Amino acid sequence: MNGLLAAILGLLLGSIPFGLLLTRAAGLGDIRSIGSGNIGATNVLRTGNKKLAAATLVLDFLKGAAAVWLAAALFGPETAGIAAIAAVLGHCHPPWLAFRGGKGVATALGVFLALAWPVFVAAALTWLVMAKLVKISSASALTGMAVAAIVAFAWGGWPLFWPVALIVAYVTLRHHANIARLIAGTEPRIGQGK
Ligand code: G3P
Repeated sequence: MNGLLAAILGLLLGSIPFGLLLTRAAGLGDIRSIGSGNIGATNVLRTGNKKLAAATLVLDFLKGAAAVWLAAALFGPETAGIAAIAAVLGHCHPPWLAFRGGKGVATALGVFLALAWPVFVAAALTWLVMAKLVKISSASALTGMAVAAIVAFAWGGWPLFWPVALIVAYVTLRHHANIARLIAGTEPRIGQGK
């Protein structure tokens, strides 16, 4: 029962589409018809509004962390992994947007912080270094995700690895179109259009 409640909490928090809400409130139209159509911070940056992109990144991150922290506090620490997975799934498939949401990177980073801070630090540092080096958001995010899975196993063994690995696998799947463009050499750099 506690696991189910944690899943519902995670889904509800994760499904708040901050990128869509902020761009609409700023009068920029529907983010789903801009750039990649994604509702995440990378695509919000394509509107040219850096502050809005940063706000989307922070809020998508915080909703992930909040879902895990709240579930652990309300329903017990053993429900943290379920809330983490549910929050990322909620972001990727919000019921309010016909289940077509984002790719889950910022929300995943938030849940990593709440699950185990070293996983977050390793993933975020990898993302930042890769973003500086290759300047491609998807490649940076995917590298950060892979590092997160490795650090989760090293830090917490199987109990930490399974939720992190499932999230990493799902976020990677959500990037299938980006991966195809990376292979084709056509993936745009950060801030560029699509
Ligand atoms: O977090 C999403 C990012 O990795 C790629 O976003 O809009 O370039 O598909 P986008």
